[in-house]
Amino acid sequence: MQISLESKPYAALETEALVSYVFEEADPVQGRISELDQTANGLLRSLAKSGELTGKTLEMTLIHAPAGLKAARLLLVGAGKREQFTSATLRKLAGAALRYLKARSIKQLAFLVRESNATEESAQAIAEGVLTANFETDKYKTEKKNDKSIDTVLLTGYSDAERAAAEKGLTRGRVIAESQNFARDLINEPSNKLTPKILAEKAEAMAKQAGLAVEILDEKKITELKMGALLSVSQGGPEPPRVMVITYTPANPKPGAPVIGLIGKAVTFDTGGISIKPADGMEKMKYDMAGGATMLGVMRALAALKPNVKVICVVPSTENMPGGTAQKPGDIQTAMSGKTIEVLNTDAEGRLILADGLHYAKQLGATHLIDAATLTGAIVVALANVNVGVFGSDQPFTDKLLASSKAAGEKMWQMPIDDEYREFIKGTVADIQNIGSGKGGGAITGAMFIKEFAGDSPWIHLDIAGTAWNDDAKSWLAKGPTGVALRTLVHLVMSY
Ligand code: BES
Ligand code: ZN
Ligand code: ZN
Repeated sequence: MQISLESKPYAALETEALVSYVFEEADPVQGRISELDQTANGLLRSLAKSGELTGKTLEMTLIHAPAGLKAARLLLVGAGKREQFTSATLRKLAGAALRYLKARSIKQLAFLVRESNATEESAQAIAEGVLTANFETDKYKTEKKNDKSIDTVLLTGYSDAERAAAEKGLTRGRVIAESQNFARDLINEPSNKLTPKILAEKAEAMAKQAGLAVEILDEKKITELKMGALLSVSQGGPEPPRVMVITYTPANPKPGAPVIGLIGKAVTFDTGGISIKPADGMEKMKYDMAGGATMLGVMRALAALKPNVKVICVVPSTENMPGGTAQKPGDIQTAMSGKTIEVLNTDAEGRLILADGLHYAKQLGATHLIDAATLTGAIVVALANVNVGVFGSDQPFTDKLLASSKAAGEKMWQMPIDDEYREFIKGTVADIQNIGSGKGGGAITGAMFIKEFAGDSPWIHLDIAGTAWNDDAKSWLAKGPTGVALRTLVHLVMSY
């Protein structure tokens, strides 16, 4: 899909659909909408009077052959209350407009920004909204609905003075959304098409193309490094594990500056291992690599956006299979850090592979660690599919992330990690055990386990089990992989 800035006056645009948005207020026909109303001989005001145009969130009002416009259609999207309007609203409504028009076989649209938000930020939000909305999961359908895809989006309503800023926002939004879609595409792949080996090949290709340093550790190297926790998971099946290491180094690194470590769980399929999962819904466990895919997408975006801080991305990847060689409940494993782990449940495998991932990232020089993982069903119980669960050992660092999540329009909620929870994972026969001792707080015990391997480094854990996959399509996003946390993490790194 092409997206570009258009300088022609919007009334002169020969587009299939001109899209704008209306606030829910006493008189929704104001500013640019009032201009449109005048060219359309008062049609919009009469629609407002009859209650067909209210500005209620994501209300769609489609007008064919609007008078005074070269556009074939005018689509007005409800933006909700003006006081509550943010760039997150704009991102969503731009996406919803695109999907609404796409469903009507329209191929091209022009998005008219309102007079009060012709900014860099809005251009970025609109670009992100339409590009992520255009993503579909029909890759493996042999009869694609080719007639249903938007080819071109024009961004209009920016004055000459505002154009340079809009262009910047548009470029940034494009990079971020395309990286998010890159991650979503990986997450959507089934496990027979995306093994750890294939994921590593794709990561390597992406890194090389983006100009990032990349190293892929194979099973031999992983064994040499004594990544016993990762190996204990991969021993259950024939597919060898991989660890992807991708590094971004800024042009002028500041001595003593933080080095961000991004670690992502990439279990390409989680059967649960010997502690096997129920059959019902198990197919969804192909998305158990969403944390890893998201981190790869973050690196793809950073390569283009060039932050001033060094970033090391470590993605351990494996299947979790219940083969004859699989680890069994009660087995004791030694992680790369030297800590011993009692594996009481082989389905709590994400924390095992992250243990070695975090330790390795530290060894490579990362000073600030962030991991993302579809770690627990318990986070789905706690926060459903609405908020990402955030766990942090260093409040200023965590606050920075939470601020970025607000700016990026991704909902995140901080969870507790009090010392009391440490007791839950104290080992009986080894240093620690990989599940809590039956006292609830499953998402927290998962986080506490990972924390053991972060040591004293400031660390954040994002549990995306509930948010990485949309079970139902939203009006602005297809059903399936969301790529959640990518925008927040890009924003966070860019803020250094
Ligand atoms: N991959 C799962 C977590 C998950 C659950 C992801 C639902 C997406 C949706 C993880 O490896 C797992 O199985 N966790 C167990 C941990 C338990 C055994 C302590 C869980 O949450 O049940
Ligand atoms: Zn599991
Ligand atoms: Zn898992």
